[in-house]
Amino acid sequence: MVKKVAIITNGGDCPGLNAVIRAIVKTAETHGVECYGYIEGYKGLLENNYIKLESNGSASGLLHRGGTIIGASNSTNLFNYPVEQDGKIEYMDMSYQAVENARSAGFDCIFTLGGDGTQKSARDFSVRGLNVIGVPKTIDNDVAHSEITFGYNTAVSVAAEALDRLHSTAESHHRIMTLEVMGRYAGWIALEAAIAGGADAAIIPEIPYDIDKIVKKINKRKEEGKKFSIIVVSEGAKPKDGDMVIKKTLNDGKGLDNIRLGGIGEKLAHDLEEKTGMVARNTTLGYVQRGGTPTAFDRVLSTKYGTKAMELAIQGTFNVLVTLKNGKLDYVSLEDVVGKNKEIGARSGGTESTNIKRVTMDDDLVKVARNLDICLGD
Ligand code: F6P
Repeated sequence: MVKKVAIITNGGDCPGLNAVIRAIVKTAETHGVECYGYIEGYKGLLENNYIKLESNGSASGLLHRGGTIIGASNSTNLFNYPVEQDGKIEYMDMSYQAVENARSAGFDCIFTLGGDGTQKSARDFSVRGLNVIGVPKTIDNDVAHSEITFGYNTAVSVAAEALDRLHSTAESHHRIMTLEVMGRYAGWIALEAAIAGGADAAIIPEIPYDIDKIVKKINKRKEEGKKFSIIVVSEGAKPKDGDMVIKKTLNDGKGLDNIRLGGIGEKLAHDLEEKTGMVARNTTLGYVQRGGTPTAFDRVLSTKYGTKAMELAIQGTFNVLVTLKNGKLDYVSLEDVVGKNKEIGARSGGTESTNIKRVTMDDDLVKVARNLDICLGD
């Protein structure tokens, strides 16, 4: 019987986190379960820092609120955690301490709201003996086995609105406008926003781009009398003969997700200006994609995921990730989510064994883009 549970919101923040918290808390209360929240993600688990969550108290008024009321920590891997020793940083396995903390606090289940890195750690904690249930959060929509992650719809909506705004200024000045969007190693945001915002090209990590193909598209538009072009580019995109643009390497390359992407939009705008002779400008959309209120779609999705997660805990179904399958609430084993990336404490993103969900060439969105003659850079 589950009597006491805790929530962790880990990784980058994301619209809908608070809506999931609210749904878990309300469902817990309906079933007489006490609910707590760890402060600042997995860091709170290590520091034994948690608060009580109640729908009439700390967890009230959450449905529409962006961010997370319990805070999040990014790149926190307790299995390979930086600890200062004699003035030097050593990477240590702090997971045993974290497990001991959760056990002594009496938590029967921990809900891990996060993306692939968070769910990798959740699976690793399940191997160490904790009962965990994951909820797929990320604007990137790249968690394996989840049809859709909460936060993604909001990010796409923000990007589509930005594209609408870029259209009128691009048209007035006869410019090429590149819009760099987030998404890490997956092009979902770029592709869907390009379709929603009527862009002329969508450049995604899954298709290393040939700049001449983009130039051809821009020139074709010029011949048709359209003197501006709008290009959406995913932060993880790269030219077919080049590499991703890395803005910063974090934690000496030793953390969980140790590179910060950014800069491909500027590069593409610069290269297109040189090749077409047109004026090009870049806009990097950045954190507005993640901040603020969730769309109605994300509020409902988050609420569905939160209630399902608590239902699973009550049934005693642990070490799974809540998902949608063919539009219906479902769950999948965390072992399947991490795929071949079994080594405890291993990094999640950007590695050979990573199991993130990337855009595949047979995806409907790719087919739609090709039918609309949106240039995919190939
Ligand atoms: O995973 C969500 C995300 O917003 C990515 O799209 C982006 O690459 C990354 O997080 C940025 O992370 P940070 O908050 O560490 O800058």
